[in-house]
Amino acid sequence: MTSSSPALPSSKTRDSAIYLDNAATSWPKPPEVALAMTHFIEEIGANPGRSGHRLSIEAARVMFAAREAIAELFGENDPLRVIFGLNVTDGINLALHGLLKPGDHVITSSMEHNSVMRPLNDLSEQGVDFTQAVCNSEGVLDLSSIETALRSNTRVIVINHASNVCGTIQPIAEIGQLARRHNLIFLVDAAQTAGVIPIDMQHDHIDLLAFTGHKSLYGPMGVGGLIVSERVDPVNMHPSRQGGTGSRSEREVQPDFFPDRFECGTPNAVGVAGLLAAMQWINEQGMNKIRMHEERLCAELLQGLLCIPGVKVYGPQNAEKQTGVVSFNIQGIEASTVGLRLDDEFGILCRVGLHCAPSAHRTLGTFPKGNVRFGIGAFNTIEDIHQALQAVSQLAKEVS
Ligand code: ALA
Repeated sequence: MTSSSPALPSSKTRDSAIYLDNAATSWPKPPEVALAMTHFIEEIGANPGRSGHRLSIEAARVMFAAREAIAELFGENDPLRVIFGLNVTDGINLALHGLLKPGDHVITSSMEHNSVMRPLNDLSEQGVDFTQAVCNSEGVLDLSSIETALRSNTRVIVINHASNVCGTIQPIAEIGQLARRHNLIFLVDAAQTAGVIPIDMQHDHIDLLAFTGHKSLYGPMGVGGLIVSERVDPVNMHPSRQGGTGSRSEREVQPDFFPDRFECGTPNAVGVAGLLAAMQWINEQGMNKIRMHEERLCAELLQGLLCIPGVKVYGPQNAEKQTGVVSFNIQGIEASTVGLRLDDEFGILCRVGLHCAPSAHRTLGTFPKGNVRFGIGAFNTIEDIHQALQAVSQLAKEVS
């Protein structure tokens, strides 16, 4: 990873709008991403790992290079333990449905997204129990609330590394240590952090890491997955899908080795090619440079919002303790109205409401109405932030 300093923004065609919805999907993408995807479609195009011809081999090479890049980024030794799927939700579902059995207990937090809560609620109908350790009003998880939730049948701890609602970053290294001390499987939802906050599966004692390509990894939508550490034996994880893998075709049961046990059917190789280019771009920039840029814009946004009368900001209100995600409400205007007016009158694009995370909003005290969320990305500029602040200030003035 390299890092020097400034330089970053620029990535054309954003004149018509200020995109502050990077927590949902980062945009624009580095130009290399579309180029790599076009190259794959036009010059490679074949099905990886199936046919033995040169184009199929080239497609498989792209897939393997992406596995290597992902494994290296997150501190996993074996690239074959990178399982590609659709997105982080897909990875979390694979892990939870694959590992848990009736009678098991899971600890999670009160800041989770529905990507964790919905599978857990579904599993609870099959006899899996779970406890939500309560976070404080800034969304921070205290280790003692995990300790309190421990039971003799606890098997998994699953935690959102950073809140998609207000950006709060959880202390995953400490939680990982706790999980290891109690011999529990530690699953991390890295939807909001993969690519911008360093994660080392070995150092942080993470057994399973669910990631998505389309947010801070700057890849396309429809590619993400799960990294499974050496502590998890594939035979102890049930594959939720079965089908063709291009391997052991003489057998009509799912292979028991990585990644084929968990990847079947033709993959999104075009998306993987884009993700590979995106990760190469991140490495060229240096993850630290991207983080520093977002942190600087986040600090400016927080400082500005906190000075506007009638605006309430949620979360840590400290750029070092959160990702580039800032949520707020303007007293006297519904979040949905703020979102519409920001778009219509100021060309500012953000996400409002409950952000698929009702538990997190309950924790922050913003359920059921939700709030307005700005999600900063690598291509935002300080001018974007100043214009967003001016718009919020104008809306707030109208109701004061
Ligand atoms: N989970 C994504 C978000 O927070 C889509 O907006």
